[in-house]
Amino acid sequence: MACDPNGLIGAEDHMPWHYPRESQHFYNIIQDKSVIMGYNTYISTPQHLRTRPGNIVFSHLHIPSEVASGARFISSAEEFTNSFKTTSILDIHQQQGGSIRQLLESGNKEAVSSIQAHTTHYMIGGAQIFELFVRNRWLDIFILTHIKQQHTGDVWLDLSYLHGWKILQIADNPEFKVILYYNLASLADAEGAKNHI
Ligand SMILES: NC(=O)c1ccc[n+]([C@@H]2O[C@H](COP(=O)([O-])OP(=O)(O)OC[C@H]3O[C@@H](n4cnc5c(N)ncnc54)[C@H](OP(=O)(O)O)[C@@H]3O)[C@@H](O)[C@H]2O)c1
Repeated sequence: MACDPNGLIGAEDHMPWHYPRESQHFYNIIQDKSVIMGYNTYISTPQHLRTRPGNIVFSHLHIPSEVASGARFISSAEEFTNSFKTTSILDIHQQQGGSIRQLLESGNKEAVSSIQAHTTHYMIGGAQIFELFVRNRWLDIFILTHIKQQHTGDVWLDLSYLHGWKILQIADNPEFKVILYYNLASLADAEGAKNHI
């Protein structure tokens, strides 16, 4: 996801800005992975992203013509937890003798490629689904682009949810910087009840 200095993410069902380099970064991250999003984001995304295989869309309403597009529609948090195994990528990796935690804690950017390699799904927004994921502790790693210029719009991320998370800066340029947030405290509380990004 990407936000401006005030946490702004959307404007009239679209992104409030167009930064080609940021778009490229987004597509580099999600690559061929499945993406999870809210219905408002689903209807606002470009056709090529909307019709990718493996999309998961949160909506209380199931719309048959849209289901035919290949997306899996999820109508509640309960349906999500019943349908998907939610396990921390950091825990899995450590059980396998991996070192993402250590890489993160030592500020080593190689953590990003290890996370990429072990991630199957990315939650890509919008604000409602971000909040749903954080409140349910389905998110322990969150990659957020901070756009440096202020914009105008009508949907904001509640960045206070990220207070206390640790950070690793993974890119910086005149237009934006990219921060990887990770939540080891949340991981320590949980007993195998976390989701991939
Ligand atoms: N800057 C970025 O990185 C970024 C990323 C993504 C989106 N955006 C922007 O953000 C805006 C959309 O964000 P948003 O917060 O308004 O909407 P959203 O999170 O994309 O989707 C909200 C919708 O998700 C469904 N939903 C929410 N909670 C649910 C639950 N517990 N169970 C089942 N369904 C649930 C509901 O759909 P129904 O109404 O169908 O029930 C709800 O209206 C757009 O402007 C978009 O362009 C920006």
